[in-house]
Amino acid sequence: MTDQIARNESERKILVTSALPYANGSIHLGHLLEYIQTDIWVRFQKSRGHACTYVCADDAHGTAIMLRAEKEGLTPEEQIARVKAEHETDFADFQIAFDNFHSTHSEENRELSASIYKACRDKGHIATRSIKQLYDPVKELFLADRYIKGSCPKCSAEDQYGDNCEVCGATYTPAELQNPYSVISGATPVEKESEHFFFKLPDFQDFLKEWTRSGTLQDEVANKLAEWLDSGLQEWDISRDAPYFGFEIPDAPGKYFYVWLDAPIGYMASFKNLCDRRDDLDFDEYWNKDSKAEVYHFIGKDIINFHALFWPSMLTAADYRTPSAVHAHGFVTVNGAKMSKSRGTFIKARTYLNHLNPTYLRYYFAAKLSGSVDDFDLNLEDFVQRVNSDLVNKLINIASRTANFIKKSGGVLSDQCVEEAMVNDFIQAGEQIAQHYENREFGRAMRDIMALADRANEYIQSKAPWVMSKEEGREQEVLDVCSVAVNLFRQLMTYLAPVMPELADKTCAFLNLDNLNWDSRTNILKGHSINKFKPMLSRAEMDKVTAILDETKTELAKENGTPAPAQDQSNSKKQEKKQAKKSAKPALREDGNEVIADTIEFPDFAKVDLRIARIVKADHVEGADKLLALTLDIGNGETRNVFSGIKAAYSPEDLEGKLTVMVANLAPRKMKFGMSEGMVLAAGPGGSDIFLLEPHDGAQPGMRVM
Ligand code: MSP
Ligand code: ZN
Repeated sequence: MTDQIARNESERKILVTSALPYANGSIHLGHLLEYIQTDIWVRFQKSRGHACTYVCADDAHGTAIMLRAEKEGLTPEEQIARVKAEHETDFADFQIAFDNFHSTHSEENRELSASIYKACRDKGHIATRSIKQLYDPVKELFLADRYIKGSCPKCSAEDQYGDNCEVCGATYTPAELQNPYSVISGATPVEKESEHFFFKLPDFQDFLKEWTRSGTLQDEVANKLAEWLDSGLQEWDISRDAPYFGFEIPDAPGKYFYVWLDAPIGYMASFKNLCDRRDDLDFDEYWNKDSKAEVYHFIGKDIINFHALFWPSMLTAADYRTPSAVHAHGFVTVNGAKMSKSRGTFIKARTYLNHLNPTYLRYYFAAKLSGSVDDFDLNLEDFVQRVNSDLVNKLINIASRTANFIKKSGGVLSDQCVEEAMVNDFIQAGEQIAQHYENREFGRAMRDIMALADRANEYIQSKAPWVMSKEEGREQEVLDVCSVAVNLFRQLMTYLAPVMPELADKTCAFLNLDNLNWDSRTNILKGHSINKFKPMLSRAEMDKVTAILDETKTELAKENGTPAPAQDQSNSKKQEKKQAKKSAKPALREDGNEVIADTIEFPDFAKVDLRIARIVKADHVEGADKLLALTLDIGNGETRNVFSGIKAAYSPEDLEGKLTVMVANLAPRKMKFGMSEGMVLAAGPGGSDIFLLEPHDGAQPGMRVM
């Protein structure tokens, strides 16, 4: 594999970047795959005690940003400042922790871009020549292919883009379009000549053949690039004519660097900007030709050429070091299809946050990410199901069903560990899990961790501290078992902390620990006082996902100026609340059952006094076609009369003598037929589909149900 780069494990200095998002749009779930993947990897390295620095920036240059600012009535500087603030809030709310988030429109970047360009030029790697291009005579602007439309030269279909026809599939150059027009002004473009600057990529053919095969790229990526490298490289056009929002090329008035020339240099600029504020970071130590530090770029598969061909060549030309590796990932699809505005699956970061906890998405991405460039499918049903079963049912359950026993016995963990071997197994498993993280095989790491969680739950289940706690004299045993459980939980959270930093913080508060750093896991907690366990994560709900899709569709409708689709209205938050009040009908899950209710604290639950009851008598009620009258023995010589709407499901003789569960402290209710003094517990939608609860053998009338 490509990850076996020789490293000095104890003293790693690592600089990590994610691709710089364009400053003309919002962050969406596709972007987030990359930033979350990178953030997890960085947090893992930091947890391991390495000096790891994560920088990013907005990619602020180019025609698109210039035009967008114009449309909004802003200067480009105002426009990019506004987007930067939005991006930073989105990232922070997804717990993506950059050490620095800068902008390519910065002084550091202007200087570095100029100096790298000059180095390339002075070594003879820049060529200039005149080229002919289509030009908008009204807007006085050269037109990139995507700003030209016209009729297909082959099938005459109208409104086709400058390079290919969506109707017949023909490819062509913009100059071949019939009746071409500028998308910006509508004017007919004219051909115009101008001088352009080119980076002579073919000069680096041999270097690249070597570099791309030296463990810097995933094998699949290196293979793809080899095809290019074998068929010969082209010179790369790095200049654009004014008007353009970017940096003017040194000694070339009116000529600007193409956005992709200064964008990757933006990685260095962001790091430079950070170094200037931090005594412990030295720019040269990371970027000098003979640097011992590691540099990694995380990117999407669409921008591999820029990072694996142009970028290492430019760096080499300018006498800088090249990246240790470029890690490419695939594209996010939703429910098996490309993210789509009309399906509501082109989901913005903010729209997601309006409805769901970011922890869910971070975990789901981790659970399914590998080190490959395969596309990533976000299946929304699987998403909800997976986070609930892994996080709520498995992981948090370990702490939530044992913590209170420790609190009850004084809040201090046992002085002894009665399962050293098992806890040590969990500690040992950290080596393999770390290896998976290092290789970006997060899915494998999550699988290992959840297998451990299963083991922890099996242990707790087999010991059943809730049973022991009812037997006198077994207090120490209960404490011992629950202390093991808490120690296992701590191991799991150490491994999951890079994925779910917010849960990690809550775990630190609960366990009374400063951090969950990887190496600190080896001291088993004994005689250590812990804090009250507070609910850490509620269940993810499918109706929240639906609300996200609806909100996304509504946004699209707003953009297009069309009325919002019908379901948006019924699902908008206000409507939903109104409706809920009117009918008091809770939302349904995919399985047709009601969505799990909001989390309650234990004391709320404890208010409900549930008792085992024997149905001593069951009768029809005259004039009532749904009710049976039940007489319930709840022990201690007490009985209760209850009217229950179960007539369609049970006949009286089926019930007499049976045990069930009742709410014994429900306020009595006067009904047409008499007083009802409580209720019996049953499941099901109603009618003949009603199922009374019946306890296992051994339960006696009067026992409290907890
Ligand atoms: N500005 C350039 C990058 C310059 S890096 C020197 C750019 N910006 S972008 O906003 O279009 O994309 C930023 C990153 O997000 C890229 O790595 C891109 O591959 C990634 N993604 C954008 N959409 C994506 C998906 N739907 N799925 C996964 N990643 C996606 O490219
Ligand atoms: Zn055509």
